[in-house]
Amino acid sequence: MNPPYTFPRNFVWGFATAAPQIEGAAFEDGKGESIWDRVAHTTDRIHNHDTLDVACDHYHLYKTDFALMRKLGAKHYRLSLAWPRIYPQGRGAVNQKGVDFYHRLIDSMLAHGITPWVTMFHWDLPQALEDEGGWRVRGVAEAFATYADTIVREYGDRVKNWITLNEIVCFTRLAYGGIDKAPFTNEGEKVVNQTYHHAILCHGHGVRAVREHGGRGARVGLTDNPTVPIPLSETKEDIAAARTAFIQNNTRIFEPIFHGRYATDYLRKAGADRPIWEKGDFDLISLPTDFLGLNLYTGEFVRAGKGGRPEVVPFTPNYPCADSPWLKLVPEALYWGPRWASEIYGAKAIYITENGAGYDDQPPVNGEVLDVHRRNYVRACLKELHRAIQEKVLVKGYFLWSFMDNFEWQDGYNRRFGVVYTDFVTQKRTPKLSAQWYSRVMAENRLV
Ligand code: NOJ
Repeated sequence: MNPPYTFPRNFVWGFATAAPQIEGAAFEDGKGESIWDRVAHTTDRIHNHDTLDVACDHYHLYKTDFALMRKLGAKHYRLSLAWPRIYPQGRGAVNQKGVDFYHRLIDSMLAHGITPWVTMFHWDLPQALEDEGGWRVRGVAEAFATYADTIVREYGDRVKNWITLNEIVCFTRLAYGGIDKAPFTNEGEKVVNQTYHHAILCHGHGVRAVREHGGRGARVGLTDNPTVPIPLSETKEDIAAARTAFIQNNTRIFEPIFHGRYATDYLRKAGADRPIWEKGDFDLISLPTDFLGLNLYTGEFVRAGKGGRPEVVPFTPNYPCADSPWLKLVPEALYWGPRWASEIYGAKAIYITENGAGYDDQPPVNGEVLDVHRRNYVRACLKELHRAIQEKVLVKGYFLWSFMDNFEWQDGYNRRFGVVYTDFVTQKRTPKLSAQWYSRVMAENRLV
């Protein structure tokens, strides 16, 4: 008998990061300003006024970072490319130095035996595009189409796994709807719905670009962070209610991408705030993909209310959470998220493109960071994922967020998600207890 919690053969294990959070070199070699550079330098929205200028200095330290990644045994790595490094103005002239940087980066990764999984867009919109209206205007999709064509043509001979966009809700609703992401504007529902529409249009262009220029063996999918309803109890009634909630929660993205239309119910409720679309948009938006990426950190508990209707059970103030207050510890999301996505939308191959926990870890003591709390949460999540796999949900891989502590958006450098500790003054990397543990998990393909 296999030891308990063994994962399928060929299961993909890796780490995840994103360009703006680790690269630094924010204004080097011709890189343009991103909307996050702008808010970091001109507002007080970011904890401690931290900027992305240096971050983990991965731009200069990538070789030693890949050596460490390899030493820990990772064979797969999800990274993103910085749009403003390739097109400093978002469109128009290409920045050759930026293009060359990613050639070197990809070559180095491959030389270390690490397979790249490239996200085209991870929130760092070129500021020049924001000045034209950003995600509010359709022009963003034209600019993205060219950017996607360029990067797939440049790197497609070596990059075979492409992710179009990361977490649409975070650069649409949370960004333009007055919550906590750049550009931190507060606009009405009509604008927000329109930003979603332009985002899914970009996803379509990403898929198209990979089909047109990706070459043999190229695969593409979206990474989304659906809100995952967890049935409060595993009774028929609560399960049915949670299932309905999943559909309702994720209507702006999954419905158009998997079914090629907006649901009538969504359009009816949105009324005059519904987005505007053009003929042909849904053909592009619903182009078939090869996999679905899910970023899963948390969930919400749902029970059957009146008439079986879903009712969210609010978290009480003492419900356990990581140091990131939004990160309620709900490992069950790793079971129910993949299950809903495959049961409801027929997602065939699912990759967990992010999972992890944000804690304010203290600097190493005698070379050790004993983040048992992070390790325990990740292990609990992986047990739930294992259950989904046992029940034949087609989960093919898992990327831990994150390889190293990095720029955690509005929380700056205080909030750490890495399994490798980053000293942001010396740039020294120290693998934490969770890294040592994860290294064993990857090597043995099972929970230890
Ligand atoms: C999701 C985002 O994709 C990533 O950029 C972020 O750092 C992590 N979640 C943790 O908040």
